[in-house]
Amino acid sequence: DWSMANFIELEIKKIREQVGNKQVLCALSGGVDSSVVAVLIHKAIGDQLTCMFVDHNLNRKGEVEQVMKTFTEDFDMKVIKIDARERFMNKLKGVSDPEKKRKIIGNEFIYVFDEESAKLTDMDFLAQGTLYTDIIESGTATAQTIKSHHNVGGLPEDMKFELIEPLNTLFKDEVRALGLELGLPEEIVWRQPFPGPGLGIRVLGEVTEEKLEILREADYILREEIKNAGLDRDIWQYFAVLPDIRSVGVMGDARTYDYAVGIRAVTSIDGMTSDWARIPYDVLEKISVRIVNEVKHVNRVLYDITSKPPATIEWE
Ligand code: XMP
Repeated sequence: DWSMANFIELEIKKIREQVGNKQVLCALSGGVDSSVVAVLIHKAIGDQLTCMFVDHNLNRKGEVEQVMKTFTEDFDMKVIKIDARERFMNKLKGVSDPEKKRKIIGNEFIYVFDEESAKLTDMDFLAQGTLYTDIIESGTATAQTIKSHHNVGGLPEDMKFELIEPLNTLFKDEVRALGLELGLPEEIVWRQPFPGPGLGIRVLGEVTEEKLEILREADYILREEIKNAGLDRDIWQYFAVLPDIRSVGVMGDARTYDYAVGIRAVTSIDGMTSDWARIPYDVLEKISVRIVNEVKHVNRVLYDITSKPPATIEWE
């Protein structure tokens, strides 16, 4: 793509001019925006870029490994992985209110990032994947009033860094095109939206290690089967949730009393409204059979058939 190649060339020049021989820090989340920013800046200044990836224990199965592999091995970038799993789990202990959980996760992310970036004394710039749409939307109170959204871009404003935001003239589809042009893998470029609080708001009620494990496995199966059915590009978002309920079932001759897993799959243009995706019955059946067979402590699978409004896409 000529125009994208052109954009890259121009941006690289700008980044080099702005940064000079100084150092840049970038918070990687594994999402499209932060990934594209990181790779673009790396292309411009190489090892003057350091990325930080905070493992809060609320990612989907395989995600941490995939992010680390992509950036450290395939792109040969400097990535510091912060293992904050225990820290987040301790903070979430005993908390079941959705808004409280969101606040705790968002705040904890900032504390961890603050603490860890303070250890890197020679950083001058902070790179962020702010898009054109983020700038427009932050001026209006939209989804924010319903749920306190947070993402990796939500860092404190009084940081000592100077900001670099090379995507702030772009729309999402342009960022994806840029990502492909820069050689990012399709899984990252076409990654479905994933909320900042991660699985912390998909395990309903109190977040525990056991529930996270169940959810990760169920969600992995769902993603695999949606992909196998060739539906992964048609459905805007598809994921498993773990409601805080258990019900009675039978396995062999024995009674079970185990968790139900919910399937949420929606079509949407921008996430503001959505319709539930009409996944074919045979695909649903495969998903259901695999989840109850392969995931311990699950004996029932539910399908969410509510649109937004009145439901929201996430359950919390
Ligand atoms: P809801 O649940 O409000 O979600 O219908 C609309 C879209 O936003 C995503 N979402 C978030 N994204 N930080 C984010 O960056 C958040 O805290 C957050 N909460 C929800 C959700 O996955 C859906 O795509």
